[in-house]
Amino acid sequence: MKCAVILAGGKGTRMKSESPKVMCEVLFEPMLGYVIRAVKSAGCENLCVVTGYRHDTVEEYLKSESNIETAYQNPQLGTGHAVMTARNFIEKHKKDEILILNGDGPLMDAETINKAYDYHVKNGNSITLVSAIVDDTEGIGHIKRDENGTLLRIVEHKDANEEEKKIRESNAGTYWFRGEDLLFALSKITNNNAQHEYYLTDCLAILIESGKNAGAYVCEDSEVILGANDRKQLSDLNTIMRRKINEKHMKNGVDIPCADGVMIGMDVEIGAGTTILPNTIIIGNTVIGENCTVGPNGFVKNSVVGSGVTLDNVKLTDSTVEDNADCGPFVQIRAGSRIRKGVHIGDFVEIKNSDIGEGTKCAHLTYIGDSDVGRNVNFGCGTVTVNYDGKSKHRCKIGDGAFIGCNTNLIAPVEIGENAFTAAGSTITEDVPANALSIARQRQTNKKDWVLKKERRESGD
Ligand code: UD1
Ligand code: CA
Repeated sequence: MKCAVILAGGKGTRMKSESPKVMCEVLFEPMLGYVIRAVKSAGCENLCVVTGYRHDTVEEYLKSESNIETAYQNPQLGTGHAVMTARNFIEKHKKDEILILNGDGPLMDAETINKAYDYHVKNGNSITLVSAIVDDTEGIGHIKRDENGTLLRIVEHKDANEEEKKIRESNAGTYWFRGEDLLFALSKITNNNAQHEYYLTDCLAILIESGKNAGAYVCEDSEVILGANDRKQLSDLNTIMRRKINEKHMKNGVDIPCADGVMIGMDVEIGAGTTILPNTIIIGNTVIGENCTVGPNGFVKNSVVGSGVTLDNVKLTDSTVEDNADCGPFVQIRAGSRIRKGVHIGDFVEIKNSDIGEGTKCAHLTYIGDSDVGRNVNFGCGTVTVNYDGKSKHRCKIGDGAFIGCNTNLIAPVEIGENAFTAAGSTITEDVPANALSIARQRQTNKKDWVLKKERRESGD
């Protein structure tokens, strides 16, 4: 069985952030989230996350995850000390292979974890670390080997001499351990180093010296080992993650003609033939169908979008937009909305918590909140559902085929019957029966020669 310990206790001083480093976000999701996803999809069933700095924030975040226990490290005395904090968990799993990895390395993926596992098991290793050849060795652990290439130990950058600093093979911070050997190695590590910390990395030399098998799985894609210790590195991770995700979608037939500002979350699904235009952010549990156009300047979160949909300059959250709907430009569709097939929503329209029936048109400057709208309704320009009376929200119901005249206020709760009309400029406070025309405004009066009379008055004639 496979299980994992994720290290998430460090403060991340160089981030200059209020929250713990692992909660710093890549594509709007904490780095820790990516690590958990990779570990789970690699088949690790039980997880222990070591928390420390602002542990409450991390614990709160983990509430939605299953099979995760936490161990609180206080004070934080290094990565080795962090793993010791998870001793109870490791004792429970000492007959298993235990994966340990840094919570600040969101690019580590299930494929690399599993390849390292296969290598670990095949060679009967007590420890297998993941490494890669990198150009920028600042701050990393250098993998020291003898002249035959046999592993010796890991030297942290701060402890390394000039020769060692030239070693480009870098420790990823991802390791497979045989449970019992891990417990043994942890009991031997000391804080005799430049940072006076208990280094997990010392386990390598300890196990080698006690005659155990040790190996390094060198990954081809050196990007997977990158972590973030400061905002610059965090931005670099965003760039890499963005590129990887965009490329995945392009392989699936999604057209991204210019990736400027295109940020797509890890879990988003997009159908073939869909085009994503610049400055578009699509995140959360979002599914977009085929042959849609999203953007430019889109924001889509936790939403389901059908096929053939246009979202031009649209902000869409926690809602559903069905096939062939056409929305935008400059539209906001807020939580709880359902835009049904073939609906047309034009410029400067806001929809909130409303169901808009098939084929309905809402072409400009309209607010529809808390409403149930039938099929083929036509909203004139400037319609407002007046859904809030200062205390509570009320719903409007609009029947199939209704025609809402321009600048109508619908004072909720109110119901407009099927095929009914409201006259432009009406403020509707009472239900309108099906097929009726409701006029709720004052009749126009024209005052003959009013201007001429006014001028005469003013000149004192
Ligand atoms: C660590 C490795 C280094 C490796 C690098 C890869 C050690 C000593 N060094 O260095 O060899 O190249 O990762 O990114 O392990 N943490 C705790 N408690 C602590 C200290 C850290 O939980 O007391 C957590 C942090 O939250 C972080 C992870 O452990 O998620 C790594 O800590 P960090 O301080 O970033 O280690 P590096 O200096 O990057
Ligand atoms: Ca780090």
